[in-house]
Amino acid sequence: MRTNYCGLIDEKYLGQTIEVVGWVHRRRDHGGVIFIDLRDREGILQTVIDPDTPEAFSVADTARNEFVIHIFGLVRNRPDGTANDSLVSGAVEVLVHRMTILNSAEPPPFLMDDNSITELVRLENRCLDLRRPEMQKNLRFRHKVTHSIRNYLNAEGFIDIETPMLTKSTPEGARDYLVPSRIHQNQFFALPQSPQLFKQLLMISGFDRYYQIVKCFRDEDLRTDRQPEFTQIDIETSFLAKEDIMKLMENMVRHVFSDTADIILDDPFPSLTFQEAMDRYGSDKPDLRIGMVITELTEIFKNVEFKVFKDAAHLDGGRVAALKVPKGNTLTRKEIADYTEYVRTFGAKGLAYIKVDNADMIPEGLASPIVKFLSTEVLEKVIKETEAENGDLIFFGADNKRIVNDSLGSLRLKIGTDLNLIDTDWKPVWIVDFPMFEFDEEEKRWEAIHHPFTSPVEGHEKFLGTKPGNALSQAYDMVINGWEIGGGSVRIHRVDTQQSVFDALGISQDDVKEKFGFLLDALKTGAPPHGGIAFGLDRLVALLCHSDSIRDVIAFPKTQRAQDILVNAPDFVGKKQLEELHIKLRDPKT
Ligand code: AMO
Ligand code: AMP
Repeated sequence: MRTNYCGLIDEKYLGQTIEVVGWVHRRRDHGGVIFIDLRDREGILQTVIDPDTPEAFSVADTARNEFVIHIFGLVRNRPDGTANDSLVSGAVEVLVHRMTILNSAEPPPFLMDDNSITELVRLENRCLDLRRPEMQKNLRFRHKVTHSIRNYLNAEGFIDIETPMLTKSTPEGARDYLVPSRIHQNQFFALPQSPQLFKQLLMISGFDRYYQIVKCFRDEDLRTDRQPEFTQIDIETSFLAKEDIMKLMENMVRHVFSDTADIILDDPFPSLTFQEAMDRYGSDKPDLRIGMVITELTEIFKNVEFKVFKDAAHLDGGRVAALKVPKGNTLTRKEIADYTEYVRTFGAKGLAYIKVDNADMIPEGLASPIVKFLSTEVLEKVIKETEAENGDLIFFGADNKRIVNDSLGSLRLKIGTDLNLIDTDWKPVWIVDFPMFEFDEEEKRWEAIHHPFTSPVEGHEKFLGTKPGNALSQAYDMVINGWEIGGGSVRIHRVDTQQSVFDALGISQDDVKEKFGFLLDALKTGAPPHGGIAFGLDRLVALLCHSDSIRDVIAFPKTQRAQDILVNAPDFVGKKQLEELHIKLRDPKT
Protein backbone atom coordinates (compact mmCIF):
# COMPACT_ATOMS: atom_id res chain seq x y z
CA MET A 1 0.00 0.00 0.00
CA ARG A 2 2.92 2.35 0.44
CA THR A 3 6.15 3.36 -1.17
CA ASN A 4 7.65 4.81 2.01
CA TYR A 5 7.24 5.26 5.76
CA CYS A 6 5.88 8.72 6.67
CA GLY A 7 8.51 9.52 9.26
CA LEU A 8 11.41 8.93 6.86
CA ILE A 9 10.44 11.37 4.12
CA ASP A 10 13.00 14.16 3.89
CA GLU A 11 14.53 16.48 1.28
CA LYS A 12 15.87 13.46 -0.64
CA TYR A 13 12.33 12.88 -1.89
CA LEU A 14 11.64 16.44 -3.11
CA GLY A 15 9.75 16.39 -6.38
CA GLN A 16 8.78 12.70 -6.08
CA THR A 17 5.28 11.33 -5.80
CA ILE A 18 4.94 8.89 -2.92
CA GLU A 19 2.29 6.72 -1.32
CA VAL A 20 2.07 6.64 2.45
CA VAL A 21 -0.31 5.15 4.99
CA GLY A 22 -0.78 5.98 8.64
CA TRP A 23 -2.88 7.46 11.37
CA VAL A 24 -4.21 11.01 11.53
CA HIS A 25 -2.07 12.51 14.27
CA ARG A 26 -3.59 15.94 13.98
CA ARG A 27 -5.87 17.68 11.52
CA ARG A 28 -5.91 21.44 11.12
CA ASP A 29 -8.43 23.28 9.00
CA HIS A 30 -6.88 26.57 7.90
CA GLY A 31 -10.01 27.88 6.20
CA GLY A 32 -9.64 26.57 2.70
CA VAL A 33 -6.56 24.38 3.20
CA ILE A 34 -6.51 21.28 5.40
CA PHE A 35 -3.30 20.05 7.02
CA ILE A 36 -3.08 16.47 8.21
CA ASP A 37 -0.08 15.26 10.19
CA LEU A 38 0.13 11.61 9.24
CA ARG A 39 1.85 9.28 11.71
CA ASP A 40 3.38 5.83 11.32
CA ARG A 41 5.96 3.95 13.35
CA GLU A 42 8.81 6.00 11.92
CA GLY A 43 7.36 9.41 12.71
CA ILE A 44 5.17 12.22 11.43
CA LEU A 45 4.70 13.71 7.97
CA GLN A 46 2.82 16.91 7.22
CA THR A 47 0.37 16.61 4.35
CA VAL A 48 -1.58 19.42 2.69
CA ILE A 49 -4.95 19.05 1.06
CA ASP A 50 -5.93 21.88 -1.27
CA PRO A 51 -9.50 22.64 -2.39
CA ASP A 52 -8.09 22.41 -5.96
CA THR A 53 -8.28 18.62 -5.53
CA PRO A 54 -11.95 18.53 -4.52
CA GLU A 55 -12.18 14.75 -4.16
CA ALA A 56 -9.26 14.51 -1.76
CA PHE A 57 -10.49 17.65 -0.01
CA SER A 58 -13.91 16.20 0.76
CA VAL A 59 -12.30 13.04 2.15
CA ALA A 60 -9.90 15.12 4.29
CA ASP A 61 -12.87 17.09 5.54
CA THR A 62 -14.33 13.97 7.14
CA ALA A 63 -11.05 12.55 8.49
CA ARG A 64 -10.61 12.75 12.25
CA ASN A 65 -7.89 11.93 14.75
CA GLU A 66 -6.67 8.32 14.53
CA PHE A 67 -8.45 7.57 11.26
CA VAL A 68 -6.29 5.29 9.13
CA ILE A 69 -5.65 6.84 5.74
CA HIS A 70 -3.81 6.30 2.51
CA ILE A 71 -2.28 9.23 0.68
CA PHE A 72 -0.80 9.65 -2.78
CA GLY A 73 0.99 12.95 -3.29
CA LEU A 74 3.97 15.08 -4.19
CA VAL A 75 6.82 15.85 -1.81
CA ARG A 76 7.63 19.56 -1.79
CA ASN A 77 9.42 22.10 0.38
CA ARG A 78 7.52 23.63 3.26
CA PRO A 79 7.06 27.40 2.85
CA ASP A 80 9.96 29.50 4.21
CA GLY A 81 9.96 29.85 7.96
CA THR A 82 7.62 26.91 8.60
CA ALA A 83 10.20 24.10 8.87
CA ASN A 84 10.10 21.96 12.02
CA ASP A 85 13.60 20.97 13.11
CA SER A 86 12.39 18.30 15.52
CA LEU A 87 11.08 16.06 12.72
CA VAL A 88 13.06 14.13 10.12
CA SER A 89 10.40 15.25 7.65
CA GLY A 90 10.41 18.77 9.11
CA ALA A 91 11.60 20.56 5.98
CA VAL A 92 9.09 18.98 3.62
CA GLU A 93 5.37 18.33 3.19
CA VAL A 94 3.24 16.28 0.84
CA LEU A 95 0.75 17.93 -1.47
CA VAL A 96 -2.05 15.36 -1.59
CA HIS A 97 -3.41 14.23 -4.96
CA ARG A 98 -5.54 11.34 -3.73
CA MET A 99 -6.66 10.36 -0.26
CA THR A 100 -8.58 7.31 0.95
CA ILE A 101 -9.89 6.50 4.39
CA LEU A 102 -8.91 2.89 5.17
CA ASN A 103 -10.70 2.92 8.49
CA SER A 104 -12.43 5.34 10.80
CA ALA A 105 -11.79 5.61 14.53
CA GLU A 106 -13.78 6.67 17.54
CA PRO A 107 -12.50 9.88 19.11
CA PRO A 108 -9.51 8.75 21.23
CA PRO A 109 -9.60 9.47 24.97
CA PHE A 110 -6.31 11.34 24.66
CA LEU A 111 -4.11 12.77 21.95
CA MET A 112 -0.97 10.88 21.01
CA ASP A 113 1.29 13.77 21.98
CA ASP A 114 -0.38 14.37 25.33
CA ASN A 115 2.16 13.50 28.03
CA SER A 116 -0.07 14.42 30.94
CA ILE A 117 -2.32 11.34 30.93
CA THR A 118 -2.44 9.26 34.09
CA GLU A 119 -0.94 5.79 34.06
CA LEU A 120 -4.32 4.22 34.79
CA VAL A 121 -5.84 5.74 31.67
CA ARG A 122 -2.78 4.72 29.69
CA LEU A 123 -2.95 1.11 30.85
CA GLU A 124 -6.71 0.89 30.24
CA ASN A 125 -6.11 2.12 26.70
CA ARG A 126 -2.76 0.44 26.20
CA CYS A 127 -3.30 -0.14 22.49
CA LEU A 128 -3.60 3.62 21.95
CA ASP A 129 -0.94 4.40 24.53
CA LEU A 130 1.52 2.24 22.61
CA ARG A 131 0.91 4.41 19.56
CA ARG A 132 2.52 7.33 21.36
CA PRO A 133 5.97 8.07 19.92
CA GLU A 134 7.63 7.63 23.33
CA MET A 135 6.28 4.11 23.76
CA GLN A 136 7.09 3.23 20.16
CA LYS A 137 10.63 4.36 20.82
CA ASN A 138 10.94 2.41 24.09
CA LEU A 139 9.72 -0.90 22.70
CA ARG A 140 11.84 -0.63 19.60
CA PHE A 141 14.80 0.17 21.79
CA ARG A 142 14.06 -2.93 23.86
CA HIS A 143 14.27 -4.97 20.69
CA LYS A 144 17.58 -3.34 19.86
CA VAL A 145 18.93 -4.29 23.29
CA THR A 146 17.90 -7.97 23.08
CA HIS A 147 19.28 -8.11 19.56
CA SER A 148 22.62 -6.73 20.74
CA ILE A 149 22.73 -9.11 23.71
CA ARG A 150 22.02 -12.11 21.50
CA ASN A 151 24.75 -11.04 19.10
CA TYR A 152 27.27 -10.81 21.89
CA LEU A 153 26.33 -14.10 23.54
CA ASN A 154 26.08 -16.01 20.27
CA ALA A 155 29.54 -14.80 19.31
CA GLU A 156 30.89 -15.94 22.69
CA GLY A 157 29.60 -19.47 22.14
CA PHE A 158 26.48 -19.35 24.30
CA ILE A 159 23.59 -21.63 23.36
CA ASP A 160 19.98 -20.47 23.74
CA ILE A 161 18.02 -23.25 25.45
CA GLU A 162 14.43 -23.04 26.70
CA THR A 163 13.47 -24.27 30.16
CA PRO A 164 10.00 -25.18 31.45
CA MET A 165 7.37 -22.70 32.55
CA LEU A 166 5.23 -25.35 34.25
CA THR A 167 7.60 -26.47 36.93
CA LYS A 168 8.38 -26.74 40.60
CA SER A 169 9.13 -23.95 43.03
CA THR A 170 12.63 -22.41 42.71
CA PRO A 171 13.58 -20.45 45.80
CA GLU A 172 14.42 -16.85 44.86
CA GLY A 173 12.74 -15.34 47.90
CA ALA A 174 9.28 -14.51 46.57
CA ARG A 175 5.95 -16.33 46.61
CA ASP A 176 5.19 -18.67 43.74
CA TYR A 177 2.49 -18.30 41.13
CA LEU A 178 0.77 -21.68 41.11
CA VAL A 179 -1.03 -23.51 38.32
CA PRO A 180 -3.41 -26.31 39.34
CA SER A 181 -3.06 -29.62 37.57
CA ARG A 182 -6.21 -31.15 36.06
CA ILE A 183 -4.71 -34.56 35.54
CA HIS A 184 -3.07 -34.84 38.94
CA GLN A 185 -5.69 -34.06 41.51
CA ASN A 186 -4.60 -31.73 44.36
CA GLN A 187 -1.27 -31.00 42.70
CA PHE A 188 0.13 -27.73 41.41
CA PHE A 189 2.84 -26.54 39.11
CA ALA A 190 4.77 -23.43 40.06
CA LEU A 191 5.74 -20.87 37.44
CA PRO A 192 9.51 -20.33 37.62
CA GLN A 193 10.85 -17.48 39.76
CA SER A 194 13.95 -18.03 37.63
CA PRO A 195 15.38 -20.93 35.59
CA GLN A 196 18.12 -21.28 38.22
CA LEU A 197 18.07 -25.02 38.76
CA PHE A 198 17.46 -25.90 35.13
CA LYS A 199 20.45 -23.89 33.99
CA GLN A 200 22.60 -25.65 36.56
CA LEU A 201 21.32 -28.98 35.25
CA LEU A 202 22.25 -27.86 31.72
CA MET A 203 25.82 -27.24 32.90
CA ILE A 204 25.88 -30.69 34.50
CA SER A 205 24.66 -31.99 31.13
CA GLY A 206 27.72 -30.46 29.48
CA PHE A 207 26.34 -27.56 27.42
CA ASP A 208 29.11 -25.35 28.86
CA ARG A 209 27.53 -21.99 28.00
CA TYR A 210 23.78 -21.34 28.16
CA TYR A 211 21.58 -18.29 27.84
CA GLN A 212 17.92 -17.53 27.60
CA ILE A 213 15.89 -14.34 27.48
CA VAL A 214 13.11 -15.61 29.62
CA LYS A 215 9.99 -14.72 31.59
CA CYS A 216 10.15 -15.16 35.36
CA PHE A 217 7.27 -14.96 37.81
CA ARG A 218 7.36 -13.69 41.36
CA ASP A 219 4.42 -12.92 43.55
CA GLU A 220 5.95 -10.10 45.56
CA ASP A 221 5.14 -6.54 46.55
CA LEU A 222 5.41 -4.39 43.47
CA ARG A 223 7.42 -1.24 42.99
CA THR A 224 8.39 0.83 39.99
CA ASP A 225 11.30 -1.54 39.32
CA ARG A 226 9.41 -4.78 39.98
CA GLN A 227 6.78 -6.67 38.04
CA PRO A 228 5.15 -9.99 38.91
CA GLU A 229 6.10 -11.17 35.45
CA PHE A 230 9.43 -9.87 34.19
CA THR A 231 12.22 -10.84 31.84
CA GLN A 232 15.67 -12.08 32.69
CA ILE A 233 18.71 -12.42 30.51
CA ASP A 234 19.68 -15.68 32.14
CA ILE A 235 23.22 -16.97 31.74
CA GLU A 236 25.28 -19.91 32.98
CA THR A 237 28.85 -21.06 32.26
CA SER A 238 31.10 -23.96 33.22
CA PHE A 239 34.76 -24.07 34.18
CA LEU A 240 35.11 -20.32 34.69
CA ALA A 241 36.30 -18.61 37.85
CA LYS A 242 34.26 -15.83 39.40
CA GLU A 243 36.53 -13.16 37.89
CA ASP A 244 36.22 -14.69 34.40
CA ILE A 245 32.43 -14.72 34.57
CA MET A 246 32.34 -11.15 35.84
CA LYS A 247 34.67 -9.98 33.08
CA LEU A 248 32.62 -11.69 30.38
CA MET A 249 29.41 -10.16 31.70
CA GLU A 250 30.92 -6.75 32.16
CA ASN A 251 32.08 -6.89 28.54
CA MET A 252 28.56 -7.82 27.48
CA VAL A 253 27.06 -4.84 29.27
CA ARG A 254 29.71 -2.49 27.89
CA HIS A 255 28.99 -3.90 24.42
CA VAL A 256 25.24 -3.34 24.78
CA PHE A 257 25.61 0.21 26.08
CA SER A 258 27.93 1.28 23.30
CA ASP A 259 26.13 -0.69 20.59
CA THR A 260 22.62 0.54 21.39
CA ALA A 261 23.18 3.95 22.93
CA ASP A 262 26.76 5.03 22.19
CA ILE A 263 27.50 5.06 25.90
CA ILE A 264 31.06 4.19 26.94
CA LEU A 265 31.10 2.63 30.41
CA ASP A 266 34.12 2.41 32.73
CA ASP A 267 36.59 -0.36 31.90
CA PRO A 268 36.96 -2.17 34.23
CA PHE A 269 33.89 -1.60 36.40
CA PRO A 270 34.96 -0.74 39.92
CA SER A 271 33.94 -3.14 42.62
CA LEU A 272 32.95 -2.75 46.25
CA THR A 273 32.48 -5.37 48.90
CA PHE A 274 29.01 -5.61 50.39
CA GLN A 275 30.47 -4.30 53.66
CA GLU A 276 32.08 -1.27 51.98
CA ALA A 277 28.85 -0.52 50.13
CA MET A 278 26.80 -0.61 53.33
CA ASP A 279 29.36 1.40 55.31
CA ARG A 280 29.88 4.12 52.73
CA TYR A 281 26.55 4.25 50.93
CA GLY A 282 24.10 2.59 53.31
CA SER A 283 22.95 0.38 50.45
CA ASP A 284 23.99 -2.69 48.49
CA LYS A 285 22.95 -0.91 45.31
CA PRO A 286 24.77 2.40 45.65
CA ASP A 287 24.33 5.17 43.12
CA LEU A 288 27.95 6.17 42.59
CA ARG A 289 27.05 9.12 40.41
CA ILE A 290 26.70 10.97 43.70
CA GLY A 291 30.06 11.64 45.34
CA MET A 292 28.84 12.03 48.96
CA VAL A 293 29.71 9.17 51.29
CA ILE A 294 28.68 8.15 54.78
CA THR A 295 31.35 8.41 57.49
CA GLU A 296 31.60 5.85 60.28
CA LEU A 297 31.67 7.50 63.72
CA THR A 298 30.48 4.78 66.12
CA GLU A 299 33.77 4.52 68.04
CA ILE A 300 34.15 8.28 68.38
CA PHE A 301 30.74 8.60 70.03
CA LYS A 302 31.14 5.81 72.58
CA ASN A 303 32.14 8.19 75.36
CA VAL A 304 30.06 11.30 74.80
CA GLU A 305 27.49 12.98 76.97
CA PHE A 306 24.85 13.12 74.19
CA LYS A 307 22.73 10.12 75.08
CA VAL A 308 21.21 9.55 71.63
CA PHE A 309 24.65 8.97 70.11
CA LYS A 310 26.18 7.23 73.11
CA ASP A 311 23.36 4.68 73.40
CA ALA A 312 23.41 3.83 69.70
CA ALA A 313 27.21 3.50 69.78
CA HIS A 314 26.95 0.93 72.56
CA LEU A 315 23.96 -0.92 71.09
CA ASP A 316 24.69 -4.43 69.84
CA GLY A 317 24.43 -3.92 66.07
CA GLY A 318 24.25 -0.17 66.59
CA ARG A 319 25.80 2.50 64.41
CA VAL A 320 26.45 6.22 64.52
CA ALA A 321 27.40 7.72 61.20
CA ALA A 322 27.45 11.02 59.35
CA LEU A 323 26.59 12.31 55.93
CA LYS A 324 28.47 15.44 54.97
CA VAL A 325 26.65 17.69 52.51
CA PRO A 326 29.09 19.89 50.60
CA LYS A 327 27.95 23.54 50.79
CA GLY A 328 24.98 22.29 52.81
CA ASN A 329 25.32 25.24 55.17
CA THR A 330 22.75 27.10 53.14
CA LEU A 331 19.98 24.59 53.89
CA THR A 332 17.15 26.37 55.65
CA ARG A 333 15.49 25.34 58.90
CA LYS A 334 12.47 24.26 56.85
CA GLU A 335 14.59 22.13 54.49
CA ILE A 336 16.31 20.44 57.42
CA ALA A 337 12.89 19.80 59.01
CA ASP A 338 11.70 18.24 55.74
CA TYR A 339 14.75 15.97 55.56
CA THR A 340 14.13 15.00 59.19
CA GLU A 341 10.58 13.99 58.27
CA TYR A 342 11.96 12.08 55.30
CA VAL A 343 14.36 9.96 57.36
CA ARG A 344 11.57 9.21 59.84
CA THR A 345 9.92 7.14 57.09
CA PHE A 346 12.91 4.79 57.40
CA GLY A 347 12.51 4.53 61.17
CA ALA A 348 15.02 7.22 62.20
CA LYS A 349 14.11 8.99 65.41
CA GLY A 350 15.70 12.28 64.38
CA LEU A 351 18.32 13.90 62.21
CA ALA A 352 20.96 15.75 64.20
CA TYR A 353 23.13 18.16 62.22
CA ILE A 354 26.08 20.51 62.47
CA LYS A 355 26.55 23.50 60.20
CA VAL A 356 30.25 24.14 59.67
CA ASP A 357 30.75 27.90 59.53
CA ASN A 358 34.40 27.86 60.51
CA ALA A 359 36.19 24.55 60.91
CA ASP A 360 39.19 26.26 62.52
CA MET A 361 37.15 27.60 65.40
CA ILE A 362 35.71 24.69 67.32
CA PRO A 363 33.20 24.87 68.91
CA GLU A 364 32.23 28.52 68.13
CA GLY A 365 32.48 27.97 64.38
CA LEU A 366 29.92 25.15 64.45
CA ALA A 367 26.19 25.90 64.53
CA SER A 368 24.05 23.07 65.87
CA PRO A 369 21.63 22.16 68.63
CA ILE A 370 23.90 19.27 69.67
CA VAL A 371 27.30 20.96 69.82
CA LYS A 372 26.78 21.80 73.46
CA PHE A 373 26.64 18.05 74.29
CA LEU A 374 29.93 17.24 72.58
CA SER A 375 33.50 18.00 73.67
CA THR A 376 35.88 20.00 71.51
CA GLU A 377 37.99 16.89 71.09
CA VAL A 378 35.06 14.84 69.72
CA LEU A 379 33.96 17.69 67.45
CA GLU A 380 37.48 17.96 66.06
CA LYS A 381 37.45 14.26 65.28
CA VAL A 382 34.08 14.59 63.56
CA ILE A 383 35.38 17.41 61.36
CA LYS A 384 38.53 15.44 60.58
CA GLU A 385 36.79 12.16 59.77
CA THR A 386 34.12 13.77 57.58
CA GLU A 387 36.72 16.09 56.02
CA ALA A 388 34.21 18.89 56.45
CA GLU A 389 35.10 22.32 55.16
CA ASN A 390 33.67 25.73 55.84
CA GLY A 391 30.20 25.95 54.38
CA ASP A 392 29.42 22.24 54.69
CA LEU A 393 26.67 20.65 56.75
CA ILE A 394 26.93 17.30 58.54
CA PHE A 395 23.86 15.13 59.19
CA PHE A 396 23.97 12.33 61.76
CA GLY A 397 22.18 9.02 62.13
CA ALA A 398 22.27 7.01 65.35
CA ASP A 399 20.36 3.77 65.76
CA ASN A 400 20.63 0.14 64.77
CA LYS A 401 22.59 -0.41 61.56
CA ARG A 402 19.57 -1.07 59.40
CA ILE A 403 17.86 2.19 60.32
CA VAL A 404 21.06 4.26 60.03
CA ASN A 405 21.94 2.73 56.67
CA ASP A 406 18.43 3.01 55.27
CA SER A 407 17.94 6.57 56.42
CA LEU A 408 21.37 8.04 55.60
CA GLY A 409 21.57 5.95 52.40
CA SER A 410 18.23 7.27 51.18
CA LEU A 411 18.98 10.80 52.38
CA ARG A 412 22.17 10.69 50.34
CA LEU A 413 20.17 9.96 47.19
CA LYS A 414 17.53 12.55 47.97
CA ILE A 415 19.98 15.34 48.72
CA GLY A 416 22.13 14.29 45.77
CA THR A 417 19.14 14.81 43.52
CA ASP A 418 17.75 17.90 45.27
CA LEU A 419 21.10 19.74 45.27
CA ASN A 420 22.14 18.50 41.86
CA LEU A 421 25.18 16.66 43.17
CA ILE A 422 25.10 14.03 40.41
CA ASP A 423 28.58 14.20 38.87
CA THR A 424 28.48 11.83 35.91
CA ASP A 425 25.93 10.18 33.66
CA TRP A 426 26.81 6.52 34.17
CA LYS A 427 28.36 4.70 37.09
CA PRO A 428 28.43 0.92 37.04
CA VAL A 429 29.80 -1.03 40.00
CA TRP A 430 30.08 -4.64 41.09
CA ILE A 431 29.10 -5.54 44.62
CA VAL A 432 30.94 -8.63 45.86
CA ASP A 433 31.62 -10.62 49.03
CA PHE A 434 28.03 -10.78 50.17
CA PRO A 435 27.38 -12.71 53.34
CA MET A 436 25.93 -16.16 52.56
CA PHE A 437 23.06 -15.74 55.04
CA GLU A 438 21.12 -13.21 56.99
CA PHE A 439 19.19 -13.94 60.14
CA ASP A 440 15.43 -13.65 59.83
CA GLU A 441 14.40 -12.20 63.21
CA GLU A 442 10.73 -13.06 62.73
CA GLU A 443 11.23 -16.66 61.67
CA LYS A 444 14.27 -17.04 63.93
CA ARG A 445 16.33 -18.77 61.28
CA TRP A 446 19.05 -18.15 58.72
CA GLU A 447 18.02 -17.27 55.17
CA ALA A 448 20.11 -17.33 51.99
CA ILE A 449 20.88 -13.78 50.81
CA HIS A 450 21.28 -14.83 47.18
CA HIS A 451 19.86 -18.34 46.77
CA PRO A 452 20.88 -21.58 48.47
CA PHE A 453 22.93 -22.77 45.47
CA THR A 454 25.53 -20.03 45.85
CA SER A 455 29.02 -21.20 46.66
CA PRO A 456 30.77 -19.94 49.78
CA VAL A 457 34.08 -18.12 49.35
CA GLU A 458 36.85 -20.71 49.34
CA GLY A 459 37.72 -21.62 52.91
CA HIS A 460 34.40 -20.36 54.29
CA GLU A 461 32.73 -23.79 54.14
CA LYS A 462 33.93 -24.25 57.71
CA PHE A 463 31.53 -21.55 58.95
CA LEU A 464 28.45 -23.28 57.52
CA GLY A 465 27.93 -25.58 60.48
CA THR A 466 28.93 -23.31 63.34
CA LYS A 467 28.87 -19.64 62.40
CA PRO A 468 26.77 -19.21 59.25
CA GLY A 469 26.79 -15.44 59.82
CA ASN A 470 30.53 -15.35 59.12
CA ALA A 471 30.39 -17.12 55.76
CA LEU A 472 30.84 -14.94 52.69
CA SER A 473 29.55 -16.07 49.31
CA GLN A 474 30.90 -15.96 45.76
CA ALA A 475 27.95 -13.85 44.67
CA TYR A 476 28.14 -10.65 42.67
CA ASP A 477 25.58 -8.00 41.80
CA MET A 478 25.93 -5.53 38.98
CA VAL A 479 24.62 -2.09 39.88
CA ILE A 480 24.32 0.85 37.50
CA ASN A 481 23.29 4.29 38.73
CA GLY A 482 21.72 2.78 41.82
CA TRP A 483 19.74 0.08 39.98
CA GLU A 484 20.42 -3.58 40.62
CA ILE A 485 20.72 -4.67 37.02
CA GLY A 486 21.89 -8.21 37.58
CA GLY A 487 22.98 -10.74 40.13
CA GLY A 488 24.72 -14.07 40.03
CA SER A 489 27.25 -16.33 41.65
CA VAL A 490 29.59 -19.22 41.41
CA ARG A 491 27.45 -22.24 42.33
CA ILE A 492 27.99 -25.13 44.63
CA HIS A 493 29.00 -28.12 42.53
CA ARG A 494 29.80 -30.53 45.35
CA VAL A 495 26.99 -32.44 46.93
CA ASP A 496 28.45 -32.28 50.47
CA THR A 497 28.73 -28.49 50.39
CA GLN A 498 25.19 -28.22 49.05
CA GLN A 499 23.99 -30.42 51.89
CA SER A 500 25.81 -28.23 54.46
CA VAL A 501 24.06 -25.15 53.11
CA PHE A 502 20.65 -26.83 53.34
CA ASP A 503 21.58 -27.80 56.91
CA ALA A 504 22.59 -24.21 57.75
CA LEU A 505 19.21 -23.07 56.41
CA GLY A 506 17.50 -25.59 58.68
CA ILE A 507 15.83 -27.46 55.81
CA SER A 508 14.96 -30.97 56.97
CA GLN A 509 16.33 -34.04 55.20
CA ASP A 510 12.82 -34.93 54.04
CA ASP A 511 12.23 -31.46 52.63
CA VAL A 512 15.60 -31.45 50.87
CA LYS A 513 14.81 -34.79 49.30
CA GLU A 514 11.35 -33.74 48.25
CA LYS A 515 12.28 -30.26 46.95
CA PHE A 516 15.84 -30.62 45.72
CA GLY A 517 16.43 -34.36 45.46
CA PHE A 518 16.80 -34.04 41.69
CA LEU A 519 19.57 -31.44 42.14
CA LEU A 520 21.50 -33.51 44.67
CA ASP A 521 21.19 -36.55 42.40
CA ALA A 522 22.49 -34.52 39.46
CA LEU A 523 25.40 -33.13 41.50
CA LYS A 524 26.44 -36.75 42.07
CA THR A 525 26.65 -37.49 38.35
CA GLY A 526 29.82 -35.44 37.75
CA ALA A 527 28.95 -31.76 38.07
CA PRO A 528 31.50 -29.31 36.65
CA PRO A 529 32.39 -26.13 38.52
CA HIS A 530 29.89 -23.63 37.16
CA GLY A 531 28.44 -20.19 37.71
CA GLY A 532 26.36 -17.52 36.05
CA ILE A 533 24.21 -14.47 36.37
CA ALA A 534 20.81 -13.10 35.46
CA PHE A 535 20.15 -9.56 34.34
CA GLY A 536 16.80 -7.82 34.65
CA LEU A 537 16.08 -6.93 31.02
CA ASP A 538 13.25 -4.58 31.96
CA ARG A 539 15.50 -2.65 34.31
CA LEU A 540 18.36 -2.51 31.83
CA VAL A 541 16.10 -1.11 29.12
CA ALA A 542 14.36 1.32 31.48
CA LEU A 543 17.75 2.63 32.55
CA LEU A 544 18.88 3.12 28.97
CA CYS A 545 15.54 4.77 28.05
CA HIS A 546 15.73 7.06 31.11
CA SER A 547 12.34 5.72 32.25
CA ASP A 548 11.56 5.86 35.96
CA SER A 549 9.33 2.81 35.75
CA ILE A 550 9.91 -0.54 34.06
CA ARG A 551 6.22 -0.45 33.07
CA ASP A 552 7.22 2.05 30.39
CA VAL A 553 9.40 -0.50 28.61
CA ILE A 554 6.98 -3.45 28.83
CA ALA A 555 4.23 -3.65 26.22
CA PHE A 556 1.54 -5.00 28.53
CA PRO A 557 2.62 -4.60 32.14
CA LYS A 558 0.69 -5.30 35.34
CA THR A 559 -0.49 -2.47 37.58
CA GLN A 560 0.82 -1.79 41.08
CA ARG A 561 -1.91 -4.16 42.24
CA ALA A 562 -0.62 -7.00 40.05
CA GLN A 563 -3.51 -6.81 37.58
CA ASP A 564 -3.76 -6.53 33.86
CA ILE A 565 -6.56 -3.97 33.59
CA LEU A 566 -6.60 -4.13 29.81
CA VAL A 567 -7.82 -7.70 29.52
CA ASN A 568 -9.02 -7.80 33.13
CA ALA A 569 -6.81 -10.48 34.59
CA PRO A 570 -6.82 -12.18 36.99
CA ASP A 571 -10.49 -13.01 36.61
CA PHE A 572 -13.13 -15.35 38.02
CA VAL A 573 -13.54 -18.70 36.32
CA GLY A 574 -16.60 -20.89 35.87
CA LYS A 575 -17.70 -23.69 38.13
CA LYS A 576 -17.01 -26.35 35.53
CA GLN A 577 -13.42 -25.29 35.06
CA LEU A 578 -12.85 -25.30 38.80
CA GLU A 579 -14.38 -28.75 39.11
CA GLU A 580 -12.07 -30.10 36.44
CA LEU A 581 -9.18 -28.72 38.47
CA HIS A 582 -10.58 -30.27 41.65
CA ILE A 583 -10.82 -26.84 43.24
CA LYS A 584 -13.54 -25.61 45.56
CA LEU A 585 -13.57 -21.93 46.50
CA ARG A 586 -13.51 -21.23 50.22
CA ASP A 587 -15.56 -18.05 49.95
CA PRO A 588 -17.22 -17.89 46.53
CA LYS A 589 -19.31 -14.82 47.48
CA THR A 590 -16.33 -12.44 47.77
P1 AMO B 1 17.89 -12.33 41.06
O1 AMO B 1 16.77 -12.73 41.94
O2 AMO B 1 18.89 -11.36 41.61
O3 AMO B 1 18.77 -13.58 40.63
O4 AMO B 1 17.30 -11.76 39.72
C1 AMO B 1 18.16 -11.31 38.68
C2 AMO B 1 17.76 -9.92 38.21
O5 AMO B 1 16.41 -9.90 37.77
C3 AMO B 1 15.84 -8.63 38.01
N1 AMO B 1 14.60 -8.81 38.79
C4 AMO B 1 13.43 -8.21 38.51
N2 AMO B 1 13.07 -7.35 37.56
C5 AMO B 1 11.79 -6.95 37.52
N3 AMO B 1 10.83 -7.36 38.38
C6 AMO B 1 11.13 -8.24 39.36
N4 AMO B 1 10.18 -8.65 40.19
C7 AMO B 1 12.49 -8.70 39.47
N5 AMO B 1 13.13 -9.55 40.29
C8 AMO B 1 14.40 -9.60 39.87
C9 AMO B 1 16.86 -7.81 38.75
C10 AMO B 1 17.80 -8.86 39.29
O6 AMO B 1 19.10 -8.35 39.46
N6 AMO B 1 18.68 -17.07 39.58
C11 AMO B 1 19.33 -15.84 40.01
C12 AMO B 1 20.38 -15.40 39.04
C13 AMO B 1 21.65 -16.21 39.11
O7 AMO B 1 22.12 -16.51 40.23
O8 AMO B 1 22.20 -16.50 38.03
C14 AMO B 1 18.27 -14.75 40.11
O9 AMO B 1 17.15 -14.89 39.69
O10 AMO B 1 17.53 -6.95 37.84
P1 AMP C 1 16.67 15.67 71.10
O1 AMP C 1 17.70 15.61 72.19
O2 AMP C 1 15.76 14.48 71.04
O3 AMP C 1 15.96 16.99 71.02
O4 AMP C 1 17.51 15.59 69.76
C1 AMP C 1 18.54 16.50 69.45
C2 AMP C 1 18.85 16.39 67.99
O5 AMP C 1 19.24 15.03 67.68
C3 AMP C 1 17.68 16.70 67.07
O6 AMP C 1 18.22 17.41 65.95
C4 AMP C 1 17.17 15.35 66.64
O7 AMP C 1 16.64 15.41 65.32
C5 AMP C 1 18.44 14.52 66.65
N1 AMP C 1 18.21 13.10 66.89
C6 AMP C 1 17.41 12.50 67.81
N2 AMP C 1 17.47 11.16 67.71
C7 AMP C 1 18.34 10.90 66.72
C8 AMP C 1 18.86 9.71 66.12
N3 AMP C 1 18.50 8.49 66.54
N4 AMP C 1 19.75 9.84 65.09
C9 AMP C 1 20.14 11.05 64.66
N5 AMP C 1 19.71 12.20 65.19
C10 AMP C 1 18.82 12.14 66.20
